[in-house]
Amino acid sequence: MKALQPRKGRHPFAAIVKPTDRCNLRCRYCYVTHHAPVRLMSPQILESVIEAVPRLAGPGRRLHFIWHGGEPLLLGRTFFGMVLDLQQRHCRGFDLDNCVQTNGTLLTEDLVDYFARTGFEVSLSLDGPAWLHDANRRYSNGGGSHQQVLRAIALLRKARRLVGAVAVLTPESAEHVDEIYHFMKRARVQYRVNPVIAPEGAAAAAQICPGDYGRAMCRLFDLWFEDASPPHLDPIQLVVGNLIASGVWGCDYHAGCARDVLAFNADGAVYPCGQLAGHPEFLLGNVCCDRPEDILGSPMARRIRRRRARLRQGACSQCEYFRICNGGCLASAWLGRKQIEARDYFCEGRRVLFQHASQRIAARLVTLCAEAK
Ligand SMILES: C[S@@+](CC[C@H](N)C(=O)[O-])C[C@H]1O[C@@H](n2cnc3c(N)ncnc32)[C@H](O)[C@@H]1O
Ligand code: SF4
Ligand code: SF4
Repeated sequence: MKALQPRKGRHPFAAIVKPTDRCNLRCRYCYVTHHAPVRLMSPQILESVIEAVPRLAGPGRRLHFIWHGGEPLLLGRTFFGMVLDLQQRHCRGFDLDNCVQTNGTLLTEDLVDYFARTGFEVSLSLDGPAWLHDANRRYSNGGGSHQQVLRAIALLRKARRLVGAVAVLTPESAEHVDEIYHFMKRARVQYRVNPVIAPEGAAAAAQICPGDYGRAMCRLFDLWFEDASPPHLDPIQLVVGNLIASGVWGCDYHAGCARDVLAFNADGAVYPCGQLAGHPEFLLGNVCCDRPEDILGSPMARRIRRRRARLRQGACSQCEYFRICNGGCLASAWLGRKQIEARDYFCEGRRVLFQHASQRIAARLVTLCAEAK
């Protein structure tokens, strides 16, 4: 088979590695199935993943490793030490960074100190104030994890580390974005808001609808836009940047699945993104037995990379926002509509946000120009 060169872009290559599907929490919306065939990544498979990543990325790319799961902190400090040794051995000549995506409950002073010394960023999962967070992010006994996340924030702050977080927007929390915004601002957390994608078999009420998502995002936009010292907030900042600059950033918008992003499960199986990891339809190969060029050249990887072109000619052909959206997120197209060449499930909400943001930016520019005369 002809070796397939990944398209070299300015985007870093994101390797989302899920070294375990195990977790000490049982969040109500969690898409991780917690019953994968291999539950902990062995040192041999970890080495195969780290060896494969620079070859999958191609020369000259920055490598962005995201340690995900399940709960990655269950693997302990020794695991992260192994990661650093293997990266030194197999990623020579590549710029790289590491980020741990964690529920925060197992963070200790010792781990924070270790991550600070070794340059690992830490991103927490935090859905806002306790009453919203604890409604979903719970232990198996029903107890909430909010208090533990606040403790993790305090540890990171004490070590002078940036505090980043991912917040999941549910049908309930979408009604309370003001509370989320003000809570995160008070906690001095830089964050990203993702819509919940209800796991298979969940009740329809667990899924936020595109209209409600759009309304919530427009409100977040207004809060951010009118704030004299706004926090770092994605995707609001990404959308503003994409509207006014020529590049397109953000994994929902730049159609980089199976090119700029790959996910790796504990058994070495490779998928086009973290949310689709473990879905058999999306298996691209396995780093233990397949060559990188065969993984990138697999029929599914090729089909995914063609998705943008298909949408440009098809379902998104009339859309004035195609340049900044590119058909949106593959995982939300698949999990919402069970189709690869479909528009993002949240299309309607994304369009409303793009339109609202464009109008407000244009109005602000008119005012600024008038004031400058
Ligand atoms: C699967 S968890 C794994 C890492 C770690 N256990 C944590 O919670 O941060 C990664 C992220 O996915 C989010 N997540 C889980 N289920 C989700 C869903 N159904 N829809 C959207 N995001 C979800 C979590 O809130 C978390 O921010
Ligand atoms: S902490 Fe992360 S992996 Fe664990 S149940 Fe919650 S979202 Fe899922
Ligand atoms: S906003 Fe909707 S129609 Fe427009 S590019 Fe995105 S997914 Fe396609």
